[in-house]
Amino acid sequence: MVILDALHWIQANVAPDLAVRWNCKAARCGSCSAEVNGRPSLTCKTRLSDFEPGETITVEPMRAFPLIRDLVTDVSWNYEVNRRIAPFQPPEDVPQEEWRWQQRDIERVQEFRKCIECFLCQDVCHVLRNHTTENEFIGPRFLVRVAGLEMHPIDEADRLEFLKDDGGVGYCNITKCCTEVCPEHIKITDNAIIPLKERVADRYYDPIQMVWRKVTGRGRPGGAPADGSRPADGSRPADGSPPAGQSSTEGRAGPTGSSG
Ligand code: SF4
Ligand code: SF4
Ligand code: FES
Repeated sequence: MVILDALHWIQANVAPDLAVRWNCKAARCGSCSAEVNGRPSLTCKTRLSDFEPGETITVEPMRAFPLIRDLVTDVSWNYEVNRRIAPFQPPEDVPQEEWRWQQRDIERVQEFRKCIECFLCQDVCHVLRNHTTENEFIGPRFLVRVAGLEMHPIDEADRLEFLKDDGGVGYCNITKCCTEVCPEHIKITDNAIIPLKERVADRYYDPIQMVWRKVTGRGRPGGAPADGSRPADGSRPADGSPPAGQSSTEGRAGPTGSSG
């Protein structure tokens, strides 16, 4: 029996007007998010047997979002944030049937696509939870989305300025609370946020790269042009595939690497 079963029992027997949002009861839709004994959790995935017999279990709505009623909150702000992120941008001059990339490159972004948009990470993040900086920080869920796009082997959009300014990536102080509550076990801080922070730092705050860009007009030594377009030296083939013998993301930031 899970917490959601208990809520349904309460609806059926005690409080028929109790407002509870749910859909799949299989930890797939992300709609039953709430705070169980203060911890952001999916109520359909949290077992009653995880608690001591006789222990009081408190279920509350997510505090990061405006309350609609009982356990239902208004999460529409998240969809507005989502619309501000530049979408996937493949090479314009290459037809879709000719897109090519390496399996190991796509495996890396696959992790980010596991997100079920439960917004538990947004709920736990202190930057959003204080209700004063939510317009300046897109939050961990959307840093995960940006990471999935930025690290896609053939994506050509440049979202670093957005991350630095509108996205507010600097607000994150890598507490890893978001990673701890993610039901999909996405390593949000290590694999998404830290590499994005490194890319922003390389682009905007690394003095050597700043001088290099001024002198050469290129993004970083041996890397892409500063404007985010493809290198003029042909280091990346026109079909978006990697140069011979090289992974299509070699030279780009990994979980602990850096890139401009
Ligand atoms: S690691 Fe960053 S995004 Fe995640 S909860 Fe902490 S401050 Fe928020
Ligand atoms: S990253 Fe994890 S916690 Fe955040 S919305 Fe996606 S699945 Fe939920
Ligand atoms: S009801 Fe779908 S994730 Fe819980």
